[in-house]
Amino acid sequence: MSFRRAFVVAVALSASSLPTVLGADVQNAHLKLPRTARANQAKVVKIFTDAYQTYRRVAFGHDDLQPVSLTFNDGRNGWGATIVDSMSTMAIMGLDDLFNEALAFSSKIDFSQSKVDESVSVFETTIRYLGGLLSAYQLSGSKHQVLVDKAKQVGDKMAFAWVGNNSIPFGELNFTTNTPFIQTSNIAEAGTITLEWSMLSKLTGNDTYRQLAEKSVRQIASLTDPLPGLAAQGIDPSTGQFVGGYVTWGGGSDSYFEYLIKYPRLTLTDDPIFVSTWKAAVDSSIRSLARRSTVGNHLYLADFDDSGMIRNIGSHLECFHGGNWLLGGQLLNNQTIVDFALELVDACWNTYQSTATGIGPEVFAYISSNDLNGTFTGGDPPSVTDLAFYEQHGFYIFNGGSDYILRPEVLESNFYAWRVSGDVKYQQRAAQAIDSINTFLAVNGAFAGIDDVNSINSTKIDDTESFFFAEVLKYLYLTFDDPNHISLDHYVFNTEAHPFIAPPTPASFGGGTTTKPSPPGRPFHAVPGPLPAVSPNSFLPKQIVPLVHGTPL
Ligand SMILES: *[C@@H]1O[C@H](CO)[C@@H](O)[C@H](O)[C@H]1NC(C)=O
Ligand SMILES: *[C@@H]1O[C@H](CO)[C@@H](O)[C@H](O)[C@H]1NC(C)=O
Ligand SMILES: *[C@@H]1O[C@H](CO)[C@@H](O)[C@H](O)[C@H]1NC(C)=O
Ligand SMILES: *[C@@H]1O[C@H](CO)[C@@H](O)[C@H](O)[C@H]1NC(C)=O
Ligand SMILES: *[C@@H]1O[C@H](CO)[C@@H](O)[C@H](O)[C@H]1NC(C)=O
Ligand SMILES: *[C@@H]1O[C@H](CO)[C@@H](O)[C@H](O)[C@H]1NC(C)=O
Repeated sequence: MSFRRAFVVAVALSASSLPTVLGADVQNAHLKLPRTARANQAKVVKIFTDAYQTYRRVAFGHDDLQPVSLTFNDGRNGWGATIVDSMSTMAIMGLDDLFNEALAFSSKIDFSQSKVDESVSVFETTIRYLGGLLSAYQLSGSKHQVLVDKAKQVGDKMAFAWVGNNSIPFGELNFTTNTPFIQTSNIAEAGTITLEWSMLSKLTGNDTYRQLAEKSVRQIASLTDPLPGLAAQGIDPSTGQFVGGYVTWGGGSDSYFEYLIKYPRLTLTDDPIFVSTWKAAVDSSIRSLARRSTVGNHLYLADFDDSGMIRNIGSHLECFHGGNWLLGGQLLNNQTIVDFALELVDACWNTYQSTATGIGPEVFAYISSNDLNGTFTGGDPPSVTDLAFYEQHGFYIFNGGSDYILRPEVLESNFYAWRVSGDVKYQQRAAQAIDSINTFLAVNGAFAGIDDVNSINSTKIDDTESFFFAEVLKYLYLTFDDPNHISLDHYVFNTEAHPFIAPPTPASFGGGTTTKPSPPGRPFHAVPGPLPAVSPNSFLPKQIVPLVHGTPL
């Protein structure tokens, strides 16, 4: 899709002194919503209000609704995660009564202690609570100061995660004692706090939060990577060094890469380290991780493991990459990255459209045309059924990864693809997803995940994660909304889909930066050429892809 490029060229011809001014536009200037958009948008609002009303009825004040048993759980420290995480979506949908109720509730949350005797995750608390509060503040006219005060309260508690002179925060804290659990973290946890903490600094006038968050990312970016520009997944806050050398765009690493481009966009910092590290990561991924399936020629980003082997595995979590590359490719005016991104978006959508429910699995695998080794990624080689599925669809559902827990990433990238390209196929895909949600996930007036995306009679998972409200339904709603509402040229979304107001992008964004110098990585041999005879047990994964966003290994 090169709509935007054509536009830039046309302008350049008529006003050759101006073209770089357009370099930083993310959204397509000629989006035209189809007539079906309004009705689809109404369906999304109904899903939101049905699910939220059920939450209100049986779970209000608790973290999650359990929609099958019609009860609740407090898996996010009991502060009412669904309420806080839903507020920015309510503001965007114009659900004022629900927003005001949530505002009243949020203003009374006591973040000084966990309501249940469990550790507090710095990452989860940052992206859901702190990010949700600050986004709700901005989206409601920056007048409810209590939302900033509450964010500050929880931010001050989380600041205890930096011990001594450590650059990297520990991942989990005891809020009663203000002490961390001394354990290994990962780059997703340590690197997905810059948007929220810098916004907290901006809104409170205390720069410490920004400095802490930046210090963590700078430390990760300063290390010698397993592959140029591609940081390892594990990191030890005590030493500031990587643990192992596993490289992936999936869980445990994912949003570190995501924020490398979003943070400089939000803050317009003139320090080139963030943009140049993102560029290096993308460039290296194209060189070393990009793989095409032997069936369907789908484009995937493989994992690279501790022993230097490629693993042809993908995940729902990883499917944010298409949207993130679209954002960065547009900001940097790089059509190569945009074109790759649109192919990544297609491959992830293919995991949806290929299943019985029209929803994609948590983990999948594929057979690549350019690896001698690394064809099979599982402990078990693909079964006859897997191979038959692969022959039809160009991926197969990874053993143990057939579930869907209401994650957003595929629809998130679909939203970016729509706003960037204007191709109505993304409208159609979003509409199909609505049908799948209504047909296969509805239960008791609410919505649940399912254990098997390839079964129309799957058992349901008894939890409605708060990100269903924060992310899935927001991205779907905005796909069908006026593109000038929450434009990608005026807002930056945190990894939980909470939008922050961003200053106008300067024409020089990302310009003049040099690519991060490639440190001497460990040897890596990409093997181009056709697929030779397969050897099913050529390697076995040490770990299956982490199942939770940012879960420590
Ligand atoms: C936090 O510390 C308090 C006081 O020592 C203790 O009672 C509580 O069990 C600890 N919580 C966790 C999750 O370790
Ligand atoms: C800024 O926030 C940090 C982290 O909570 C805190 O230690 C410090 O006292 C605050 N500074 C001011 C001037 O309030
Ligand atoms: C803390 O770290 C900074 C940056 O690495 C360094 O300049 C400073 O000397 C350190 N301070 C202490 C007390 O170790
Ligand atoms: C665009 O990105 C690709 C992939 O990283 C890179 O090879 C190319 O040099 C970039 N183009 C420009 C003009 O920077
Ligand atoms: C593939 O695996 C075989 C057997 O383990 C090994 O001999 C060969 O060097 C590997 N090839 C590549 C390209 O890694
Ligand atoms: C699914 O369940 C329905 C109703 O219980 C039944 O009629 C149908 O045969 C089942 N389909 C499959 C594929 O199991």
